[in-house]
Amino acid sequence: MIVGRFPSYRPRRNRYDNATRRLVAENTLHIDNLIWPIFFTEGTKTTTDVASMPGVRRVTLDLLASHVEPAARLGIPALALFPVTPTHKRDEHGTEATNPDNLMCRAARLLKQEFPDMALIGDVALDPYTQHGHDGLVENGYVVNDASVTILSQQAIHQAQAGIDIIAPSDMMDGRIGLIRKALDSHTLINTRIMSYAVKYASAFYGPFRDALGSNSFLKGNKKTYQMDPANSREALREVAMDIEEGADMVMVKPGMPYLDIIWRVHDTFGVPTFGYQVSGEYAMLSAAINNGWLAREQAIIESLLSFRRAGAHGVLTYFALEAATILRKRQGL
Ligand code: PBG
Repeated sequence: MIVGRFPSYRPRRNRYDNATRRLVAENTLHIDNLIWPIFFTEGTKTTTDVASMPGVRRVTLDLLASHVEPAARLGIPALALFPVTPTHKRDEHGTEATNPDNLMCRAARLLKQEFPDMALIGDVALDPYTQHGHDGLVENGYVVNDASVTILSQQAIHQAQAGIDIIAPSDMMDGRIGLIRKALDSHTLINTRIMSYAVKYASAFYGPFRDALGSNSFLKGNKKTYQMDPANSREALREVAMDIEEGADMVMVKPGMPYLDIIWRVHDTFGVPTFGYQVSGEYAMLSAAINNGWLAREQAIIESLLSFRRAGAHGVLTYFALEAATILRKRQGL
Protein backbone atom coordinates (compact mmCIF):
# COMPACT_ATOMS: atom_id res chain seq x y z
CA MET A 1 0.00 0.00 0.00
CA ILE A 2 1.25 3.48 -0.85
CA VAL A 3 0.36 6.05 1.80
CA GLY A 4 0.72 9.78 1.88
CA ARG A 5 -1.33 12.59 3.23
CA PHE A 6 -1.63 16.18 2.17
CA PRO A 7 0.14 18.48 2.95
CA SER A 8 3.15 16.41 4.04
CA TYR A 9 2.86 14.60 0.75
CA ARG A 10 2.21 16.62 -2.35
CA PRO A 11 2.14 14.41 -5.48
CA ARG A 12 2.86 17.46 -7.61
CA ARG A 13 6.36 17.82 -6.08
CA ASN A 14 7.65 14.90 -8.16
CA ARG A 15 6.26 16.56 -11.24
CA TYR A 16 8.00 19.85 -10.49
CA ASP A 17 10.63 19.77 -13.20
CA ASN A 18 11.64 17.68 -16.15
CA ALA A 19 14.64 16.07 -14.45
CA THR A 20 12.52 14.89 -11.52
CA ARG A 21 9.79 13.64 -13.81
CA ARG A 22 12.40 11.61 -15.66
CA LEU A 23 13.79 10.21 -12.41
CA VAL A 24 10.41 8.94 -11.21
CA ALA A 25 9.08 7.70 -14.55
CA GLU A 26 7.74 4.17 -14.07
CA ASN A 27 7.91 3.22 -17.73
CA THR A 28 10.15 4.17 -20.58
CA LEU A 29 10.07 3.99 -24.33
CA HIS A 30 13.35 3.08 -25.94
CA ILE A 31 14.41 2.46 -29.53
CA ASP A 32 14.90 -1.19 -28.51
CA ASN A 33 11.12 -1.39 -28.08
CA LEU A 34 10.36 -0.57 -31.70
CA ILE A 35 9.64 -2.92 -34.59
CA TRP A 36 9.06 -1.39 -38.01
CA PRO A 37 6.64 -3.12 -40.42
CA ILE A 38 7.58 -2.56 -44.07
CA PHE A 39 5.91 -3.24 -47.43
CA PHE A 40 7.74 -4.13 -50.63
CA THR A 41 6.87 -5.25 -54.09
CA GLU A 42 8.17 -6.56 -57.43
CA GLY A 43 9.50 -4.26 -60.12
CA THR A 44 12.15 -1.56 -60.12
CA LYS A 45 12.62 2.05 -59.09
CA THR A 46 9.07 2.52 -57.89
CA THR A 47 7.67 3.81 -54.65
CA THR A 48 3.92 3.96 -54.14
CA ASP A 49 1.97 5.58 -51.36
CA VAL A 50 -0.68 3.80 -49.34
CA ALA A 51 -3.55 6.27 -49.44
CA SER A 52 -5.09 5.25 -46.11
CA MET A 53 -1.69 5.26 -44.36
CA PRO A 54 -0.17 8.68 -45.06
CA GLY A 55 3.62 8.46 -44.98
CA VAL A 56 3.71 4.68 -45.50
CA ARG A 57 5.14 3.52 -48.80
CA ARG A 58 5.59 0.31 -50.73
CA VAL A 59 8.98 0.06 -52.41
CA THR A 60 10.35 -2.20 -55.13
CA LEU A 61 13.09 -4.64 -54.05
CA ASP A 62 15.90 -2.61 -55.60
CA LEU A 63 14.96 0.28 -53.29
CA LEU A 64 14.53 -1.84 -50.18
CA ALA A 65 18.03 -1.43 -48.79
CA SER A 66 17.92 2.36 -49.00
CA HIS A 67 14.39 2.31 -47.57
CA VAL A 68 15.61 0.35 -44.54
CA GLU A 69 18.91 2.14 -44.06
CA PRO A 70 17.52 4.91 -41.79
CA ALA A 71 16.04 2.27 -39.48
CA ALA A 72 19.42 0.56 -39.19
CA ARG A 73 21.12 3.89 -38.59
CA LEU A 74 18.65 4.80 -35.84
CA GLY A 75 19.23 1.44 -34.15
CA ILE A 76 15.78 -0.06 -34.59
CA PRO A 77 16.31 -3.71 -33.71
CA ALA A 78 13.77 -5.43 -35.94
CA LEU A 79 11.73 -5.20 -39.12
CA ALA A 80 8.44 -6.96 -39.87
CA LEU A 81 8.34 -7.89 -43.56
CA PHE A 82 5.16 -7.77 -45.64
CA PRO A 83 5.37 -8.63 -49.33
CA VAL A 84 2.87 -7.14 -51.74
CA THR A 85 2.41 -10.03 -54.14
CA PRO A 86 1.43 -9.14 -57.71
CA THR A 87 -2.09 -10.20 -58.60
CA HIS A 88 -1.01 -12.70 -61.24
CA LYS A 89 0.97 -14.64 -58.64
CA ARG A 90 -2.04 -15.12 -56.39
CA ASP A 91 -4.04 -18.30 -56.73
CA GLU A 92 -6.68 -20.37 -54.96
CA HIS A 93 -4.13 -22.25 -52.83
CA GLY A 94 -1.56 -19.54 -52.14
CA THR A 95 1.06 -21.58 -54.01
CA GLU A 96 3.48 -18.65 -54.14
CA ALA A 97 3.77 -18.78 -50.34
CA THR A 98 5.94 -21.89 -50.60
CA ASN A 99 8.08 -20.72 -53.50
CA PRO A 100 11.62 -20.47 -52.05
CA ASP A 101 12.28 -17.63 -54.46
CA ASN A 102 9.19 -15.57 -53.72
CA LEU A 103 9.29 -11.88 -52.92
CA MET A 104 9.52 -12.49 -49.17
CA CYS A 105 12.49 -14.85 -49.44
CA ARG A 106 14.33 -12.58 -51.87
CA ALA A 107 13.78 -9.61 -49.55
CA ALA A 108 15.01 -11.64 -46.58
CA ARG A 109 18.22 -12.69 -48.36
CA LEU A 110 18.87 -9.12 -49.47
CA LEU A 111 18.23 -7.54 -46.08
CA LYS A 112 20.20 -10.18 -44.17
CA GLN A 113 23.18 -9.48 -46.36
CA GLU A 114 22.90 -5.68 -46.09
CA PHE A 115 21.93 -5.48 -42.43
CA PRO A 116 23.15 -8.65 -40.68
CA ASP A 117 22.47 -7.24 -37.22
CA MET A 118 18.82 -6.44 -37.80
CA ALA A 119 16.26 -9.04 -36.80
CA LEU A 120 13.90 -9.93 -39.62
CA ILE A 121 10.37 -10.94 -38.70
CA GLY A 122 8.49 -12.93 -41.33
CA ASP A 123 4.73 -12.91 -41.52
CA VAL A 124 3.45 -16.44 -41.97
CA ALA A 125 -0.07 -16.58 -43.44
CA LEU A 126 -1.50 -17.13 -46.89
CA ASP A 127 -3.40 -13.87 -47.40
CA PRO A 128 -0.74 -12.12 -49.53
CA TYR A 129 -0.77 -15.11 -51.88
CA THR A 130 -4.41 -16.20 -52.20
CA GLN A 131 -7.05 -14.97 -54.61
CA HIS A 132 -9.67 -15.03 -51.88
CA GLY A 133 -7.50 -13.05 -49.44
CA HIS A 134 -7.86 -15.54 -46.59
CA ASP A 135 -5.00 -16.61 -44.35
CA GLY A 136 -5.57 -20.32 -45.02
CA LEU A 137 -7.03 -22.68 -47.61
CA VAL A 138 -10.73 -22.37 -48.39
CA GLU A 139 -12.93 -25.41 -48.93
CA ASN A 140 -16.65 -24.95 -49.52
CA GLY A 141 -16.43 -21.40 -48.26
CA TYR A 142 -14.73 -22.37 -44.99
CA VAL A 143 -11.09 -21.76 -44.06
CA VAL A 144 -9.86 -25.26 -43.21
CA ASN A 145 -7.40 -25.68 -40.40
CA ASP A 146 -5.11 -28.67 -40.66
CA ALA A 147 -4.39 -28.52 -44.39
CA SER A 148 -3.58 -24.81 -43.98
CA VAL A 149 -1.12 -25.53 -41.20
CA THR A 150 0.81 -27.96 -43.41
CA ILE A 151 1.38 -25.22 -45.99
CA LEU A 152 2.18 -22.62 -43.34
CA SER A 153 4.90 -24.90 -41.96
CA GLN A 154 6.50 -25.13 -45.39
CA GLN A 155 6.21 -21.39 -45.80
CA ALA A 156 7.98 -20.91 -42.45
CA ILE A 157 10.85 -23.21 -43.43
CA HIS A 158 11.48 -21.35 -46.67
CA GLN A 159 11.44 -18.04 -44.85
CA ALA A 160 13.84 -19.23 -42.17
CA GLN A 161 16.20 -20.70 -44.78
CA ALA A 162 16.16 -17.36 -46.61
CA GLY A 163 17.30 -15.52 -43.48
CA ILE A 164 14.16 -14.68 -41.51
CA ASP A 165 15.19 -14.73 -37.84
CA ILE A 166 11.75 -14.65 -36.25
CA ILE A 167 8.79 -16.51 -37.71
CA ALA A 168 5.55 -14.70 -36.95
CA PRO A 169 2.45 -16.72 -37.79
CA SER A 170 -0.46 -14.29 -38.13
CA ASP A 171 -2.94 -16.80 -39.51
CA MET A 172 -4.71 -17.87 -36.30
CA MET A 173 -5.01 -21.52 -37.30
CA ASP A 174 -5.11 -23.92 -34.36
CA GLY A 175 -1.97 -25.90 -33.57
CA ARG A 176 0.25 -24.09 -36.01
CA ILE A 177 2.91 -23.05 -33.50
CA GLY A 178 3.62 -26.65 -32.52
CA LEU A 179 3.78 -27.87 -36.09
CA ILE A 180 5.92 -24.95 -37.25
CA ARG A 181 8.31 -25.53 -34.34
CA LYS A 182 8.56 -29.20 -35.25
CA ALA A 183 9.12 -28.40 -38.92
CA LEU A 184 11.85 -25.85 -38.11
CA ASP A 185 13.58 -28.24 -35.71
CA SER A 186 13.56 -31.06 -38.24
CA HIS A 187 15.34 -28.74 -40.67
CA THR A 188 18.00 -27.92 -38.05
CA LEU A 189 16.55 -24.44 -37.70
CA ILE A 190 16.51 -24.76 -33.92
CA ASN A 191 17.49 -21.15 -33.29
CA THR A 192 14.81 -19.62 -35.48
CA ARG A 193 12.52 -17.87 -33.04
CA ILE A 194 8.73 -17.84 -33.16
CA MET A 195 6.74 -14.73 -32.33
CA SER A 196 3.17 -15.93 -32.32
CA TYR A 197 0.32 -13.64 -33.20
CA ALA A 198 -1.27 -15.54 -30.34
CA VAL A 199 -4.14 -13.15 -29.79
CA LYS A 200 -5.36 -11.66 -33.01
CA TYR A 201 -8.85 -10.25 -33.15
CA ALA A 202 -11.21 -10.10 -36.13
CA SER A 203 -10.83 -6.34 -36.27
CA ALA A 204 -11.98 -3.43 -38.38
CA PHE A 205 -8.61 -1.82 -37.74
CA TYR A 206 -6.79 -3.91 -40.37
CA GLY A 207 -8.54 -2.13 -43.24
CA PRO A 208 -5.66 0.14 -44.32
CA PHE A 209 -3.19 -2.79 -44.17
CA ARG A 210 -5.33 -4.73 -46.59
CA ASP A 211 -5.22 -1.64 -48.84
CA ALA A 212 -1.44 -1.68 -48.61
CA LEU A 213 -1.33 -5.35 -49.57
CA GLY A 214 -4.01 -4.93 -52.17
CA SER A 215 -6.01 -7.72 -50.56
CA ASN A 216 -9.08 -5.66 -49.64
CA SER A 217 -10.41 -6.02 -53.15
CA PHE A 218 -9.88 -9.78 -52.98
CA LEU A 219 -11.14 -10.66 -49.54
CA LYS A 220 -14.30 -12.68 -49.69
CA GLY A 221 -16.33 -12.46 -46.50
CA ASN A 222 -14.55 -11.91 -43.21
CA LYS A 223 -12.07 -13.66 -40.93
CA LYS A 224 -14.38 -14.30 -37.99
CA THR A 225 -14.12 -18.10 -38.12
CA TYR A 226 -10.44 -17.94 -37.22
CA GLN A 227 -9.58 -14.54 -35.73
CA MET A 228 -10.85 -13.87 -32.21
CA ASP A 229 -14.10 -12.21 -31.22
CA PRO A 230 -13.41 -8.69 -29.84
CA ALA A 231 -15.82 -9.51 -27.01
CA ASN A 232 -13.46 -12.05 -25.46
CA SER A 233 -10.54 -11.77 -23.09
CA ARG A 234 -10.36 -15.01 -21.08
CA GLU A 235 -10.12 -16.84 -24.38
CA ALA A 236 -7.02 -14.78 -25.12
CA LEU A 237 -5.24 -16.30 -22.14
CA ARG A 238 -6.07 -19.77 -23.35
CA GLU A 239 -4.69 -18.99 -26.81
CA VAL A 240 -1.46 -17.71 -25.28
CA ALA A 241 -1.14 -20.71 -22.94
CA MET A 242 -1.47 -23.08 -25.89
CA ASP A 243 1.09 -21.21 -27.97
CA ILE A 244 3.64 -21.13 -25.15
CA GLU A 245 3.18 -24.84 -24.64
CA GLU A 246 3.62 -25.41 -28.38
CA GLY A 247 6.92 -23.53 -28.39
CA ALA A 248 6.29 -19.81 -28.95
CA ASP A 249 9.27 -17.72 -27.80
CA MET A 250 7.30 -14.48 -27.83
CA VAL A 251 3.64 -13.67 -28.14
CA MET A 252 1.76 -10.79 -29.67
CA VAL A 253 -1.57 -9.09 -29.12
CA LYS A 254 -3.21 -7.37 -32.07
CA PRO A 255 -4.62 -4.73 -32.53
CA GLY A 256 -2.91 -2.72 -29.81
CA MET A 257 -4.49 0.38 -28.36
CA PRO A 258 -8.08 -0.95 -28.22
CA TYR A 259 -6.70 -4.12 -26.57
CA LEU A 260 -4.24 -2.84 -23.97
CA ASP A 261 -6.23 -4.70 -21.32
CA ILE A 262 -5.35 -7.93 -23.11
CA ILE A 263 -1.65 -7.06 -23.26
CA TRP A 264 -1.77 -6.39 -19.57
CA ARG A 265 -3.50 -9.68 -18.74
CA VAL A 266 -1.24 -11.73 -20.97
CA HIS A 267 1.95 -10.23 -19.61
CA ASP A 268 0.71 -10.29 -16.04
CA THR A 269 -0.35 -13.92 -16.31
CA PHE A 270 2.53 -15.47 -18.24
CA GLY A 271 5.44 -13.04 -17.99
CA VAL A 272 6.72 -14.10 -21.41
CA PRO A 273 8.01 -11.55 -23.93
CA THR A 274 4.80 -9.88 -25.05
CA PHE A 275 4.41 -7.56 -28.02
CA GLY A 276 1.64 -5.28 -29.18
CA TYR A 277 0.85 -4.33 -32.75
CA GLN A 278 -0.27 -0.76 -33.30
CA VAL A 279 -2.04 -1.75 -36.48
CA SER A 280 -2.74 0.11 -39.68
CA GLY A 281 -6.13 1.44 -38.55
CA GLU A 282 -4.59 2.89 -35.40
CA TYR A 283 -1.90 4.51 -37.52
CA ALA A 284 -4.57 5.84 -39.89
CA MET A 285 -6.63 7.32 -37.04
CA LEU A 286 -3.68 9.01 -35.41
CA SER A 287 -2.26 10.24 -38.71
CA ALA A 288 -5.60 11.65 -39.81
CA ALA A 289 -5.98 13.64 -36.61
CA ILE A 290 -2.33 14.71 -36.58
CA ASN A 291 -2.38 15.77 -40.23
CA ASN A 292 -5.51 17.79 -39.59
CA GLY A 293 -3.69 19.61 -36.84
CA TRP A 294 -6.02 18.15 -34.22
CA LEU A 295 -3.31 16.32 -32.29
CA ALA A 296 0.27 17.34 -31.50
CA ARG A 297 2.37 15.03 -33.66
CA GLU A 298 5.35 14.06 -31.51
CA GLN A 299 3.44 13.97 -28.27
CA ALA A 300 0.64 11.83 -29.68
CA ILE A 301 3.06 9.34 -31.23
CA ILE A 302 5.17 8.90 -28.10
CA GLU A 303 2.18 8.83 -25.75
CA SER A 304 0.44 6.18 -27.84
CA LEU A 305 3.56 3.98 -27.82
CA LEU A 306 4.23 4.52 -24.14
CA SER A 307 0.74 3.20 -23.43
CA PHE A 308 1.84 -0.20 -24.75
CA ARG A 309 4.83 -0.19 -22.41
CA ARG A 310 2.64 0.74 -19.46
CA ALA A 311 0.36 -2.16 -20.33
CA GLY A 312 3.33 -4.51 -20.13
CA ALA A 313 4.46 -4.82 -23.74
CA HIS A 314 8.16 -5.39 -24.33
CA GLY A 315 7.88 -3.88 -27.74
CA VAL A 316 5.52 -2.46 -30.31
CA LEU A 317 5.14 -3.08 -34.00
CA THR A 318 4.38 0.38 -35.30
CA TYR A 319 4.39 2.24 -38.61
CA PHE A 320 5.63 5.22 -36.56
CA ALA A 321 8.86 3.37 -35.68
CA LEU A 322 11.18 5.58 -37.71
CA GLU A 323 9.57 8.75 -36.51
CA ALA A 324 9.44 7.59 -32.91
CA ALA A 325 13.12 6.60 -33.01
CA THR A 326 14.00 10.00 -34.42
CA ILE A 327 12.04 11.75 -31.66
CA LEU A 328 13.64 9.60 -28.95
CA ARG A 329 17.13 10.33 -30.26
CA LYS A 330 16.40 14.03 -30.40
CA ARG A 331 15.18 14.01 -26.81
CA GLN A 332 18.39 12.37 -25.72
CA GLY A 333 20.33 15.02 -27.56
CA LEU A 334 21.83 12.46 -29.96
C1 PBG B 1 -2.66 -11.03 -42.26
C2 PBG B 1 -2.19 -9.86 -41.50
C3 PBG B 1 -2.97 -8.73 -41.25
C4 PBG B 1 -2.17 -7.83 -40.56
C5 PBG B 1 -0.91 -8.41 -40.39
N1 PBG B 1 -0.93 -9.68 -40.97
C6 PBG B 1 -4.35 -8.40 -41.66
C7 PBG B 1 -5.43 -9.39 -41.58
O1 PBG B 1 -5.45 -10.28 -40.73
O2 PBG B 1 -6.32 -9.28 -42.43
C8 PBG B 1 -2.66 -6.49 -40.12
C9 PBG B 1 -1.66 -5.45 -39.80
C10 PBG B 1 -2.20 -4.07 -39.75
O3 PBG B 1 -3.42 -3.83 -39.87
O4 PBG B 1 -1.38 -3.16 -39.58
N2 PBG B 1 -2.04 -12.21 -42.11
